[in-house]
Amino acid sequence: MLVKREKISFLDPQPTPINYLPTLSKELGVELFIKRDDLTLFGAGGNKLRKLEYILYDAIQKGATTLLTVGGAQTNHGRLTAAVAAKYGMKCAIVCVDEYPGEISANILLDGILNAEVVMKKNDGRDKDEQLVETVATVKARYEDMGETVYEIPLGGSDVVGMMGYYECAVELTAQVQKLGIEDATVVTGVGSMGTYLGLYCGLKNEGSPLEITGIAILPFNDYHDRRIVEYFENAKEEYNFSIDACRKDFNIETGYTRGAYNNSDSTVRQAIYRMARSEAILLDPCYTGKVFAGVLDMIEEGKIKKGEKIILLHTGGMPGFYTKHHRVEFEKELMGHVTIVD
Ligand SMILES: Cc1ncc(COP(=O)(O)O)c(C=O)c1O
Repeated sequence: MLVKREKISFLDPQPTPINYLPTLSKELGVELFIKRDDLTLFGAGGNKLRKLEYILYDAIQKGATTLLTVGGAQTNHGRLTAAVAAKYGMKCAIVCVDEYPGEISANILLDGILNAEVVMKKNDGRDKDEQLVETVATVKARYEDMGETVYEIPLGGSDVVGMMGYYECAVELTAQVQKLGIEDATVVTGVGSMGTYLGLYCGLKNEGSPLEITGIAILPFNDYHDRRIVEYFENAKEEYNFSIDACRKDFNIETGYTRGAYNNSDSTVRQAIYRMARSEAILLDPCYTGKVFAGVLDMIEEGKIKKGEKIILLHTGGMPGFYTKHHRVEFEKELMGHVTIVD
């Protein structure tokens, strides 16, 4: 790797497997592969563990005893931060501005099992970011009063430290596809807090990989996101002295497949999930990877992804999302026919 940064290694397996999907490839007329970053050991796995390897090292160097992060109430990143904190003997607090969903399920349930505190600030109608910053400050002060040294992790672990996990993944992927004799594939990933996409982008470009990258936004992209991706790149370039340059148009992020909102329940996403499960026995989640695969199916249909193209879908995890109430009830309506009740 051209860029070095210390980390604490806990991914297992590493490299994560990359598998060919024969049935879907045949049906769709493309060469479809999947990179299994959902199979990453701690806390039900997922993309955030790669970022947390670098973040944990930084936190321990700074003497941290508590990891504090932010997100939606059902944040996968929060759950994986809780898992890492549990494994390394630290405390964990997850702060969100969100309504209590009426039940302790999915990631919130796992957060509790992993011994993290989830702080849900009721939205009082003011700017959400302002409320989040205030609540984080209050929670941080509370932990510090208990003698803890608190390390703050931004949304999704997406800072210059965390993105190194996906810079490294880009190098890993390049070596894997070389072994498979593939040269001209496109990696497709979901884009939320952007660290996964940007880490991959920088890793592929800065290391001269032949792989291309396409991001699929899983939440509506606005001017803030357009500015943020460029700023994030510039900060990373400064931190790591990349030899590459990039502006907004260099980031190939598809913004037309968000299905209108973040983590919304959408029947086309469920159809994509059924399709992957019923032909390749791989489970995609309803918030991120199912939406990304639904986007890929649209792009194939629209001819944006050409017949014969090689696509590597990054499975970023998110499995607990199935068990959030608003997804579960919609699945239940469609799947009742699969339950046979006999006397
Ligand atoms: C399962 C899953 N996939 C994809 C993403 C998006 O990654 P990023 O936030 O780095 O853009 C997330 C982020 O929360 C996630 O939890």
